[in-house]
Amino acid sequence: MCGIIGYCGVRTAKPILLDGLKRLEYRGYDSAGLVVVDGKKLNLVRAVGKVSDLEKKGIARPQPGHCGIAHTRWATHGRPSEENAHPHCDCGGKIAIAHNGIIENYLDLKEELLARKHEFRSETDSEVIAHLIEEYYDGDLEKAVLKTVQRLEGTFGIAVVHADSEDQVVMVKRGSPIIIGIGEGEYFAASDANALLPYTQKIISLNDDELAVLHPGGYHIKNLNNEFLQKQIEIRQDRDELADKKGFEHFMLKEIFEQPEAIENAFRGRIVEGEGVSKLGGLEPVMERLKSVKKLVIVSCGTSYYAGLCGRYIFESLCDLHVEVEMASEFRYRRLKLDGDTAVLALSQSGETADTIAAIREAKRKGALILGVVNVVGSAIAQITDAGVYNHAGPEFGVASTKIYTSQLVVLTLMALLIGRYRGLSFTEGSAVIQAVKKLPRQVKKILTDIEHIKKVAQEYSRYRDFLFIGRQHNYPTAMEGALKLKEISYIHAEGYPAGEMKHGPISLIDENFPTVAIVSQDSTFDKMISNIQEIKARNGRVLAVAGEGSDRIGDVCDDVIRVPETLPILQPVLNIVPLQLFAYFIARSKGCDIDKPRNLAKSVTVE
Ligand code: F6R
Repeated sequence: MCGIIGYCGVRTAKPILLDGLKRLEYRGYDSAGLVVVDGKKLNLVRAVGKVSDLEKKGIARPQPGHCGIAHTRWATHGRPSEENAHPHCDCGGKIAIAHNGIIENYLDLKEELLARKHEFRSETDSEVIAHLIEEYYDGDLEKAVLKTVQRLEGTFGIAVVHADSEDQVVMVKRGSPIIIGIGEGEYFAASDANALLPYTQKIISLNDDELAVLHPGGYHIKNLNNEFLQKQIEIRQDRDELADKKGFEHFMLKEIFEQPEAIENAFRGRIVEGEGVSKLGGLEPVMERLKSVKKLVIVSCGTSYYAGLCGRYIFESLCDLHVEVEMASEFRYRRLKLDGDTAVLALSQSGETADTIAAIREAKRKGALILGVVNVVGSAIAQITDAGVYNHAGPEFGVASTKIYTSQLVVLTLMALLIGRYRGLSFTEGSAVIQAVKKLPRQVKKILTDIEHIKKVAQEYSRYRDFLFIGRQHNYPTAMEGALKLKEISYIHAEGYPAGEMKHGPISLIDENFPTVAIVSQDSTFDKMISNIQEIKARNGRVLAVAGEGSDRIGDVCDDVIRVPETLPILQPVLNIVPLQLFAYFIARSKGCDIDKPRNLAKSVTVE
């Protein structure tokens, strides 16, 4: 949420800053701005809208200079406007800052600064940072930033330039990611490595409460006690996935089609067929403790929360373990009994989600073992968990998550298999899970070959303005996730419900204008699902079923059917969600929506 890029080096800064912003745009895209230090002056341009709007506005304005910072925003305090866009300046117009995160005590600081005659031009929390630096500046920018940070409460990744320090970018991190990129005679700062891939593979990740200074001759890093730190340089091998969409119209579609590979990457090298078990190196350090935990609490948000709900069925089925699933944003309000016998498992694609981080901190305080399943290597959640597993799904740029969701389900299955084999799961049962997991990539590919049929069905349903999604047991989270995908990218109202709950209220919504998507598997819930569908049909509701290849009767009771291959019940959600992702995609496309950057959303949600 919000992206920062900074540059200091031999090249002209502006094109690098604009390119970096485009690469970070999936983090927030309601306004953007950049500032270049040019002959003891700050040259600032900001615009409402996308980075392309900023670019258009900046064309008329030459911005030479070799040092600058830029920002793409997801509004928290203050609507998207030019005044609220970053970078923000001090009263003297000499200092510019870009900020990612939230300054929780900004009102107190603002009051203090107003009393000292500072003039504010935005409604943001961030602007106080520029004015505080101005207060503390006595010719040494680094010192002024250090003093400023001591006053800030909340989370931040901050980049700062000063007109009088033409060759310096100062950054500081607490809670929101900041990395440094090291090139030849040039140095970069960014919120994530995607921004820097064309320029350098040498990356340093700042930890919380670390400050870095970039200048053309080098860089240095300090802690907030002003002590120098030596930090390891990582060599990143990530492919530059943002370079092209590989012929797909949108990243979301590309990522839906990458699911067979992402699923394979989730289990490659992680199964031991001869023993009917999985092997997860990241869990080895805590395996003894994990074998005997009495309770597992899964915490996550949004799509990752729905993966957690599927995880409950997976762990209950394979591990004989008491499992609770909590929305991370509600976790701290619960009086949950967490102790050394509890494992808390955080699921997060980005590894940056503020609510999930807050839940982890709360669970740590209570002594639980903290595990993570995270896609972004080295992200905040990866760093604060005791142990965990990476998805290795590759970067996901479509704001609506697809391939990481299905990859999460596979990783959860492998975790449950590992723990389950210590808790009574037999070799035969374990082997059956492994065989089913191995088949998934082929089965997903098969669903993807049905794209024309799914597209046609989506077009027929695109005229409706409300949808109900229903499912039972492991298809219930799929109903929630299917509804979320539709509302996120097409802005159509959709509700996900456990099918059995329908008669307790939502059925009153049903009429010929309110269709239902029913997710049906040929399992113990099948007959009850058929009854629920009949109840909808009896009220003139149109029903689209996503159903297993083997369920013949479904065609007789539903108006439309999309078929999916069958697998073990615990893995069926991996397959059932794929046509629903495509269904949402094609409806959004027919409405002309901005699929990869849906309104009001951002990829990583770094505010609570
Ligand atoms: C929806 C989506 C979000 C995220 C949620 C948590 O498509 O991606 O609902 O799942 O914001 O994010 P992570 O998984 O990064 O913690």
